[in-house]
Amino acid sequence: MILAVETSCDETSVAVVREGAILSNVVSSQVALHAEYGGVVPELAAREHLRNFPSVARTALAEARISADELDAVAATQGPGLPTALLVGFKAAQAAAYALRKPFVGINHHEAHLYSPWIGHFDAFVPNVSLIVSGGHTILALVKSELKHQVLGSTVDDAAGECFDKAGKLLGLVYPAGPEIDRLAEQGDPNSFDFPRPLIADPDDDFSFSGLKTSVRYFLRDNPHLLNEPQKIRDVCAGIQAAIVDVLVTKTIRAARRTAVNCVTASGGVTCNRALRRQLENACRKNGFTLRLAERSLCTDNAGMIGILAERKLLAGNSPTPLDVEIEPGWQIS
Ligand code: KG4
Ligand code: ZN
Repeated sequence: MILAVETSCDETSVAVVREGAILSNVVSSQVALHAEYGGVVPELAAREHLRNFPSVARTALAEARISADELDAVAATQGPGLPTALLVGFKAAQAAAYALRKPFVGINHHEAHLYSPWIGHFDAFVPNVSLIVSGGHTILALVKSELKHQVLGSTVDDAAGECFDKAGKLLGLVYPAGPEIDRLAEQGDPNSFDFPRPLIADPDDDFSFSGLKTSVRYFLRDNPHLLNEPQKIRDVCAGIQAAIVDVLVTKTIRAARRTAVNCVTASGGVTCNRALRRQLENACRKNGFTLRLAERSLCTDNAGMIGILAERKLLAGNSPTPLDVEIEPGWQIS
């Protein structure tokens, strides 16, 4: 029975997991708090984590119908993330492990996303190419066996989710704009406006999205009247989304073909995007790949994925993390 904590950004989350199952996964989102600033304000996030953590933790234990003394281990996101936000959950989890005299496991947030498509299905694990696509990063990894992965490429500037959010801000949409662009694009024509697809023809596995964001800025500067026409806004959203999704799907499928795996997985907040899910499904069907997408509720940040990865690591014989280690805000997987 593992208690897991995630506070790397603007979600306060605590989960209880046991034998591969998530017994509770409570997520308290701060999205509304940060919306008025157009992005996450680190100090506000930390203060809010402090305020929310006790009740989120109590609810997670209550929903799992266990008491703290039934726990066998405690896990928390160690990095990457906003330092002040990470500190709150990580130190609370270390303190709990110390008080309960139980092992502690520090988890890499991206690695937890990477394995989230397998939650509930680890018995079916096969080598795969994995796309991690969130607000903080865009990564393509080759996962050769469980807990053995190699990063093939990542974004050299903005993450795909960041591009959704920044393009949405230029369109006057509320933060985070990804879900809103997804909704508006469903009623828009992706062919009305053509946006660049950076690095799509590049043979390597890196991404770049800041140029696309800049082209949206210049496009709206030169066509400000479009912002007064609701259907045009939907068409622009569909055009931006099509560009982002095209790049993600093309590069993921190319990497899967090159590395000769039979399976593709995707995880992270942007994996909620309907066009991305549809296009990955079509492309995988056409290429004969099995596709495994993280469940929608496990795509955005949550402690369930942190607890499941901690359990897989302990079961694989990995040593617990010493209690005197610190957060690692810049921790990248390699
Ligand atoms: O994984 P996540 O919750 O946090 C990070 O680790 O970054 O991802 C959040 C990101 C945000 O940029 C948000 O706009 C994006 O995921 N996102 C979406 C959708 N839902 C969330 N982007 C596009 N379409 C969506 N439906
Ligand atoms: Zn994340």
